[in-house]
Amino acid sequence: MLETTRLAADPPGLRAAAEILRAGGLVALPTETVYGLAADACNDRAVAGIFDAKQRPRFNPLIVHLPDLAQVARFATVTPLAQRLAAAFWPGPLTLVLPLRDGGGLSPLVTAGLDTVAIRIPANPVAQALLTEFGGPVAAPSANPSGRISPVTAAHVLAGLSGRIHAVIDAGPCAVGLESTILDATGDTPQLLRAGGLAVEDIAAALGQTVASPQTDTITAPGQMASHYAPRGRVRLNVTAPDPGEVWVGFGPCPGAALTLSPTANLTEAAARLFHALHEADALAGPGGAIAFAPVPGSGLGRAINDRLRRAAAPR
Ligand code: TXA
Ligand code: MG
Repeated sequence: MLETTRLAADPPGLRAAAEILRAGGLVALPTETVYGLAADACNDRAVAGIFDAKQRPRFNPLIVHLPDLAQVARFATVTPLAQRLAAAFWPGPLTLVLPLRDGGGLSPLVTAGLDTVAIRIPANPVAQALLTEFGGPVAAPSANPSGRISPVTAAHVLAGLSGRIHAVIDAGPCAVGLESTILDATGDTPQLLRAGGLAVEDIAAALGQTVASPQTDTITAPGQMASHYAPRGRVRLNVTAPDPGEVWVGFGPCPGAALTLSPTANLTEAAARLFHALHEADALAGPGGAIAFAPVPGSGLGRAINDRLRRAAAPR
């Protein structure tokens, strides 16, 4: 059992966090999407510690976080498609899967033995400052126990991982609130591997090109496992009339709802509120309770919101 320190998002806090990373420890860091559980991506034991702390299956590769595009070429081949995507959306809530470059020094645990690597350049200034202060690649999955709801506050991180990690940097709630959109950019056509905090419509518009959504039976991302983001209680979706005793989470006007994703049916607000609402509904409903979500449209950020809701509701 570790003592988990809550660090402030100020220069002393960031220096302490970088020291922990250099020593092979685990620090939860804020990004604009969700809080990540960070470790030195070149240190096998540190990366193994992420899998242990989260109880995450080892076949599941991690995202490598870097402060800017200039650092990427050490670890991956920046394809022409990746160049265009980076120019339009980095730093930001976008992760690119690229051909792995040998000799970069990444722990093979990060890529789970694949010949590709997932890279993200986060925009959150605290994440940027820590990456710069640390000066190397940082592996970071979402800072939650595997299969549970992603954390969008330091309190969520501590509720799931206190005693299992060295520190959390508290920088308040995450602005986007949904994990990054993951694109395979190894070829000429972007392939959507996970819907997330950057809408596919925005990507297609910036590229002037459609984004493919491959149908695959093989699990390439944990977001593709049916049950994920799971509260302890039962979850029903597209509910306009909740059953008695159900914790109803609204979208738009929903008289009597216990919580709302957005009273004005705004998808950006709903994305930012989604994991807060799942955590709160989980606490209200309790282990044997029931949660019901009002319908959310499937366009724009609604695609990722509905993806997370389906997984939260999946049998487990
Ligand atoms: O917003 C985010 O993406 C957050 C913050 C912390 O950056 N991170 C995050 O990490 O959501 P995680 O581990 O929960 O999800 C990373 C996803 C997984 O679904 C993993 O399978 C996929 O990225 N992934 C990583 N490397 C990959 C690769 N080489 N090919 C395909 N998928 C990959
Ligand atoms: Mg996750």
